[in-house]
Amino acid sequence: MKIYAHRGSSGTHPENTLAAFKEAARLDIFGVELDVHLTKDDKMVVIHDEAINRTSNGKGFVRDLTLSELRAYDFGNWFGDDFKGESIPTLEEVLMIFQNTTHHLNIELKSDIFEYEGMGDKVLHLVVKMGLDERVLISSFDHEAVRNFKKSAPHIEVALVTMDVLVDAYDYARFIPADALHISYPAALRKMTKEAMLKGAIIRVFTVNEVMDVQALQQIGVHAIFTDFPEKMKHVLEAGKI
Ligand code: G3P
Ligand code: MG
Repeated sequence: MKIYAHRGSSGTHPENTLAAFKEAARLDIFGVELDVHLTKDDKMVVIHDEAINRTSNGKGFVRDLTLSELRAYDFGNWFGDDFKGESIPTLEEVLMIFQNTTHHLNIELKSDIFEYEGMGDKVLHLVVKMGLDERVLISSFDHEAVRNFKKSAPHIEVALVTMDVLVDAYDYARFIPADALHISYPAALRKMTKEAMLKGAIIRVFTVNEVMDVQALQQIGVHAIFTDFPEKMKHVLEAGKI
């Protein structure tokens, strides 16, 4: 079972910051997951929420602020004094950290609330420019965005993200078409997962931070987990193999 650092190493560092991604890059894990939104001036920035309120000392929606306005805020101090001065990173800055590593990069397009027209194309352009196509995995709760991305770049792996219990999840993914399903932990325990896996679906599960849950998923045989504690869970998986 593979491990993706969810929003970077976000259990020990402020999520979706360069500090969290540098920590993940140091680890011998399969991949890292990050979330992308567009600023008012159409720059790709890495942050989870539509608004900056929870993870910074500022307020407002990302789409209403320019990159230079966003840079004025602190995105580390809310997590701990040691991280004071972290700013919101651009997608390019995050990808640069992994330019010379082997980590797989799951870029989640956060266009399910605000559409951010053109964001998929911008991500594609950057990924190709940086030569990261082989290691990139695009996902979204916005299944239209997944479909559009796959149409533009059939060679890049894409995945549907869902918290719902779906009927015929494998067939739905094929229909989009998507290469994999990223499902929430409760859905992973449902019949839908077993059925989809029997048909050959690739299943990755978020967000798995409890040791017992990791072990349960190992039993089911899912392909990967997204966790805020990648280093800890790597040790758990290694210990389980002995
Ligand atoms: O892609 C897995 C997971 O990141 C989806 O949920 O809300 O943490 O972006 P969220
Ligand atoms: Mg995400």
